[in-house]
Amino acid sequence: SSAMVVRVEGQTINPEIRKTEEKVVDSVVVTELSKPLTAYCRCWRSGTFPLCDGGHVKHNKATGDNVGPLLLKKQ
Ligand code: FES
Repeated sequence: SSAMVVRVEGQTINPEIRKTEEKVVDSVVVTELSKPLTAYCRCWRSGTFPLCDGGHVKHNKATGDNVGPLLLKKQ
């Protein structure tokens, strides 16, 4: 069977992961990285996808969601 995911403005992206946290952000420390910090979007709202442009703030406010970016940090 095939599944189709439909994302509708105003709906939450994250129905169940770590909902007690204000914003779900994860970090990965890497040794080889051209920039000290790179943030990858996990809310699907970024205008610069796959990079985070801060659009999750508006999405979280509008929906009560708590999504945040994945941060890659240079060691
Ligand atoms: Fe999507 Fe920041 S804009 S996580």
